[in-house]
Amino acid sequence: MANIVSFFLAILVNLVLVLAFFAEASPSPTSNREAEALLKWKASLPKQSLLESWVVPAANNASSAPPSPCKWFGITCNEAGSVSIINLAYTGLRGTLQNLDFSSFPSLVRLDLKVNRLTGTIPSNIGVVSNLVSLDLSTNSLNGSLPLSLANLTNVYELDISRNNITGVLDRSLFPDGTSSSKTGLKNLKYLLFQDTLLGGKIPQEIGNLQFLVLLALDDNFFHGPIPPSFGNLSELAVLRLSNNQLSGPFPEKIATLSKLSDLRVFTNQLSGVVPVGLGNYSSLVVLHLAENNFTGHLPPQVCGGGNLVNFTADSNNFTGPIPISLKNCKSLYRVRLEYNQLTGYLDQCFGVYPNLTFINLSFNRLGGQLSPNWGECRRLTLLKITGNMVHGKIPDEIMGLNQLVGFDLSSNQLSGEIPTTIGNLSKLSFLSLKDNKLSGGVPASIGELSDLEFLDLSMNIISGPIPEQIGDFTRLQDLYLSRNHLNGTIPYQISNLVNLQVLDLSYNSLGGNIPPDFGKLRSLESLNISHNNLSGSIPFSLNSMISLTDIDLSYNNLEGPVPDINIFRSAKPEALSNNKHLCGTIKGLPPCNVIKTESGGKSKKGKLEIVLPILLISGLLLLLMFVWILVLCRKKRSKKAVKEDGAQNEENLFSACYFQGKILYKDILEATNNFDDKYCIGVGGFGKVYKAKMPDSDQVFAVKKLNFQATDDSQLESIKSFGNEVAALTEIKHRNIVKLFGFCSRGIHTFLVYEFMERGSLADILTSDEEAEKLDWEKRIRVVKGVAHALSYMHHDCVPPIIHRDISSKNVLLDTELEAHVSDFGTAKFLNPESSNWTAVAGTFGYLAPELAYNMAVTEKCDVYSFGVLTLEIVMGKHPGELISALNSGSIQSIRYEDVLDPRLSIPTSQEIADKLALAVNLAIPCVASNPESRPTMRKAAKLLEIQPHAEELKA
Ligand SMILES: *[C@@H]1O[C@H](CO)[C@@H](O)[C@H](O)[C@H]1NC(C)=O
Ligand SMILES: *[C@@H]1O[C@H](CO)[C@@H](O)[C@H](O)[C@H]1NC(C)=O
Ligand SMILES: *[C@@H]1O[C@H](CO)[C@@H](O)[C@H](O)[C@H]1NC(C)=O
Ligand SMILES: *[C@@H]1O[C@H](CO)[C@@H](O)[C@H](O)[C@H]1NC(C)=O
Repeated sequence: MANIVSFFLAILVNLVLVLAFFAEASPSPTSNREAEALLKWKASLPKQSLLESWVVPAANNASSAPPSPCKWFGITCNEAGSVSIINLAYTGLRGTLQNLDFSSFPSLVRLDLKVNRLTGTIPSNIGVVSNLVSLDLSTNSLNGSLPLSLANLTNVYELDISRNNITGVLDRSLFPDGTSSSKTGLKNLKYLLFQDTLLGGKIPQEIGNLQFLVLLALDDNFFHGPIPPSFGNLSELAVLRLSNNQLSGPFPEKIATLSKLSDLRVFTNQLSGVVPVGLGNYSSLVVLHLAENNFTGHLPPQVCGGGNLVNFTADSNNFTGPIPISLKNCKSLYRVRLEYNQLTGYLDQCFGVYPNLTFINLSFNRLGGQLSPNWGECRRLTLLKITGNMVHGKIPDEIMGLNQLVGFDLSSNQLSGEIPTTIGNLSKLSFLSLKDNKLSGGVPASIGELSDLEFLDLSMNIISGPIPEQIGDFTRLQDLYLSRNHLNGTIPYQISNLVNLQVLDLSYNSLGGNIPPDFGKLRSLESLNISHNNLSGSIPFSLNSMISLTDIDLSYNNLEGPVPDINIFRSAKPEALSNNKHLCGTIKGLPPCNVIKTESGGKSKKGKLEIVLPILLISGLLLLLMFVWILVLCRKKRSKKAVKEDGAQNEENLFSACYFQGKILYKDILEATNNFDDKYCIGVGGFGKVYKAKMPDSDQVFAVKKLNFQATDDSQLESIKSFGNEVAALTEIKHRNIVKLFGFCSRGIHTFLVYEFMERGSLADILTSDEEAEKLDWEKRIRVVKGVAHALSYMHHDCVPPIIHRDISSKNVLLDTELEAHVSDFGTAKFLNPESSNWTAVAGTFGYLAPELAYNMAVTEKCDVYSFGVLTLEIVMGKHPGELISALNSGSIQSIRYEDVLDPRLSIPTSQEIADKLALAVNLAIPCVASNPESRPTMRKAAKLLEIQPHAEELKA
């Protein structure tokens, strides 16, 4: 039988081939078909002027000359008149590729749509354009997965999908039948334990079959998982860009052996392990970016083996061992970043002279040795950073010839000697840090020539002598740190010229004299620390005009006199002024100034006392009076309230609290439900009956949930009160998947909540009715799962403090007319069982309770995650999963048969997309019901996962 079928198939295929042959023989039908396909695509796109030329010529000559697209904008034809190039790059093109029928373009060799605004997925049949040599879809907003049919573009040499939102192919181990599965396939839905790889997909290893690939760019997408080792077969590959994804695992050894590879970028991923030692041996690398991964081991020694390496980064990894030996004579270097590793070696031996080098950062490694004068011959250097190593010796004068240098950071080493006096020659310098070394001598006056300087840090050295007055010439300076040195002399008054200064730290020196009176001119200053010096005199009042100042420290000096009563001192900590000679004033913590003394001398203390004592007495008396008055007032109020309630209600319960949003009234509710007549009862929830209340004056309908709760003692009154407060917060919440709560009332025998009315009732009711359950088709069920996930994610992660539901079950998920899910009763479970750090039968619904609650563990968000998992299974299965959960947790089943988990009342999904989404939901539910709360995902993660575009497309193909 099967043979017969394939026999007929073969005939069919031959027939198609023959027809295709004839079609190609006469050009017009082909270009006709191409024009039609382009027009069909155009019609599906938003109207845009760039496609204006894509039109059918006037009707009268249509019969004689079929429309030819060859002159249309962006279209190029080959000699036979068939479309060979579609190039709409950089045109701002909007829309999707869904209606571009690739099978209509047998001669297409180049499709270039880069840098546009395309959305949607890459069509799964893209593989039919088998003559394509160049496909560039980069820099768009394409999402979804990479179609496996790409692997059929066997002639392609350029494949650029970079800068999109492509998620790769979902892990196909989910679907053991793989692509061969028939429409209703997926016989054995194997579940995966929760893994990050579910969040994005893998790069299909089939791409490794595109043997002519020269450029492969998948950077800036959402690919997870390993780099396919099959890339090692791409023997023509020159450019491989995989950066900015979430790739993990090792670097495939064989890629290092590709002999034409010149540009390799894998930065910003989570790759680990050792980079193949042979990288650079087999080909001449020009660009190599390994930065921001988890690589360990040594850097490949021959990275610059070919002598062409221009840009090289390996920063922020865990590389150990020496600087690659080939770097020493790598004259081509332009930009190098090796910071944040544990590389070792001697600085003066590992590096040479680099005429083209503009940028090198070697910071935070374990490099020793000295700074070589060779750096001075790297004339184009704009940045030289070697902070956080163990470099010793002097700073060579030669470096001061680098007149392009903008950033220079040698901080946290063991450099000694003096700062070269020629430092003023670094005329472009903007950032200079020599902090935390052993530099001695003075601050060279020529430093004032660095007119572009914005950041200067010489702190933590043993620099002595005065601060040169040229310091006032740094008109752009924003940060000045000279602390922890041996500076002496006075603070030069010129410092007040630094109008852009934001941070000034001169602490821990031996500066004397006064604080310059004009200091207040530093209007941009935010932080001032001149503590631990020998400054004397008074604090200039001009500090008043330092309007930006938020942080000040003047402690440990010899300052005296009145402290200006200005904000910065009022808000400063007392320590900021401590340990001075004699500061005084009205600021808290300071002794008062001797006012009389400054005015007339002599009997100061007494005069002061005479003023202060009466003031104290009077204010004390006033305070006392106020206190008594408040007490009296409170008592009155309390008795009034009691009287009122007694009179009004005459009920055993003295407490009454109603909180409503809007114009809902207690009496209206009672009226609308005829005092909670069963006639209005629409359901029985976990905690009591639910009534439908149609307001008398308006058409508004509410659902009123009357709780089986009556306060009989004080602790219950307390919980009513605190719940009232919580309701106030809950009524503020607006989320499309959360039932709106309008209010709460506890009065006499009635305690009830007023909610938005949900027409379709609870999910539990729908699932128990065969008729209703059938209407809730697969698509709607998936929507319900997503809705609940979003609601929980919102309450757990976007509310402060987070709100835990504690009683997620199908009874608390209500549906509106559109069958959109709304979660009801947030916060109620806690109210009904306020003290419980654990769960009792009162709160929570049996069958949805997280197992840890049986062991008195604290209620956390993860309890809701568990209930969500149960609920999700219930939605897919159409009934509570029951024993399945314990079976999953005990490991007694390894896989679930697809048919066994689908609600038998619905037919098996015919769309692969729906099937995949269901599989995703089930795969997500499984880790949610894990017995260990820590193995459960967060709701945020779960919600995000459910939004993944499954790879339906390529499975269909
Ligand atoms: C692509 O991903 C980015 C980052 O997650 C996101 O901001 C953007 O909205 C996404 N674009 C589309 C079209 O999905
Ligand atoms: C690739 O092409 C082959 C032969 O034409 C076809 O059988 C196969 O289905 C295609 N694969 C995909 C994923 O499109
Ligand atoms: C990478 O390394 C860091 C620190 O060593 C570690 O915290 C992190 O978990 C690692 N990430 C991966 C994906 O291995
Ligand atoms: C090297 O990096 C610089 C700066 O990022 C860039 O402008 C230049 O194009 C890169 N060179 C190569 C060969 O990629």
